[in-house]
Amino acid sequence: MKPDYKEAKVRDKTKVEVVDYSIDKSLINKYKGKKYFIKTYGCQMNEHDTENICAMVEEMGFVPEEDYSKADLIILNTCSIRENAHNKAFGMLGRCKHLKEKFPNTIIGICGCMSQEEVVVEEVLKKHKYVNFVVGTNNLYDLPEVLDKSVKTKSPMIEVTSNDDTIGEDIPVTRASKFKAYVNIIYGCDKFCTYCIVPYTRGKQRSRSHESILKEVNKLVKEGYKEVTLLGQNVNAYGKDLDDNYYMEDLLEDVAKTGIPRVRFLTSHPWDFTDKMIEVIGKYPNIMKSVHLPVQSGSSRILKLMGRRYTKEEYIKLFDKLRSIPNMTISTDIIVGFPGETEEDFKETLDLCEYCKYDNAFTFIFSERVGTPACKLDGKVEEPVKEERLQRLNKVVNKYFKESNKKLLDNTYKILVEGKNETGKTRLFGYLENGKLINFDGDESLIGEIVNVKVTDAKTWSLDGKLVK
Ligand code: 5AD
Ligand code: SF4
Repeated sequence: MKPDYKEAKVRDKTKVEVVDYSIDKSLINKYKGKKYFIKTYGCQMNEHDTENICAMVEEMGFVPEEDYSKADLIILNTCSIRENAHNKAFGMLGRCKHLKEKFPNTIIGICGCMSQEEVVVEEVLKKHKYVNFVVGTNNLYDLPEVLDKSVKTKSPMIEVTSNDDTIGEDIPVTRASKFKAYVNIIYGCDKFCTYCIVPYTRGKQRSRSHESILKEVNKLVKEGYKEVTLLGQNVNAYGKDLDDNYYMEDLLEDVAKTGIPRVRFLTSHPWDFTDKMIEVIGKYPNIMKSVHLPVQSGSSRILKLMGRRYTKEEYIKLFDKLRSIPNMTISTDIIVGFPGETEEDFKETLDLCEYCKYDNAFTFIFSERVGTPACKLDGKVEEPVKEERLQRLNKVVNKYFKESNKKLLDNTYKILVEGKNETGKTRLFGYLENGKLINFDGDESLIGEIVNVKVTDAKTWSLDGKLVK
């Protein structure tokens, strides 16, 4: 089944069906000892999907391999958000083609957002016939069956559903970390911001039941996990598609009550941020005081063209409320060069950044995505102008990153130690509760623990610190 954009746009009231994952017994260990390599592009959703893909193929008997040229199975878990993500995946696909010429039995599969794009699948069928299978984001749980069928039939299998009303539960997971975990709470997005391809590639908004989510979090607590990140394209819309009167604030509160030391959540659309959510964030010490609140532009005119559903003033009002929570850090996403963006509009974005003094910001040049409404807008901004605006914007936001880091100097914070820093044998790195990265000296045995570290130096992108008792 090929992807279909018309279908992908449909938002109907069909009830979401929960599909409990199961694998055909004949596939378990069928590929015993064969090696797999997976390359992940894009966001945390994809990183987490990769954890599911790894577990599914490991059930089939595949073992991980870090060098793609030695793998029997290569999976690209792709991203569609901007053109460069596309190009990277196609570049890798080119390398896979060469490999397949040498080793024709190598199995090559594509998952992730690009698999949901009509244009991509057409191109794969025309120019990359050596690809064995394409599995969509909505029906990722079909992967073992599709992979096996494609090997049997020796012809490309395209299994992509577009208007999907399912949620996969009990999909196995091989978590990348033993102490921090991603937990999906809501799939898809119904916001249809005019520049964004996600509502087409990730389908309609579907919340998992809170019972399933809490069961997963409780299991993580028992296993000794220190941090969960609740994931969704727009987590704040959690529960709006269900009819049990249970929303993001309720979920956040119940997750906090499980006793997991750290709760994070990603990403929040300003439209769905309720006062109750803000209250809950402030109330529970184990809900991290770190919110990602994409603004996209500081011009209300451009925000309207982007279909963002808020004005600059409304954004600022919400921003101020969040900032009033002690020790709160706020990060954002900004797009420059959206069609019709004038120098005046852009200056409003700079002014907003001067006002908000973001603790972190991800800045992007507008990238046209086939099939999105923004593609058809007049007033395209010239490439050099976009580049120049990005540079000016980065200068402003970078200034505030350093400033926000400097405020932490000489204070002691709780750090979840994540790993060894490549720069030195005894150098470790971890994250503060507010999400800032810190490097410090310490013993490897501390990895996965929460320790106290005093901030000794503040840079633009990170902090240096010293372990204290
Ligand atoms: N062009 C540039 N940036 C985009 N984003 C989403 N779509 C596009 C696009 N077409 C950015 C937004 C979003 C982040 C994940 O990616 O800022 O918040
Ligand atoms: Fe894309 Fe907007 Fe949905 Fe975010 S809220 S995924 S930017 S459509």
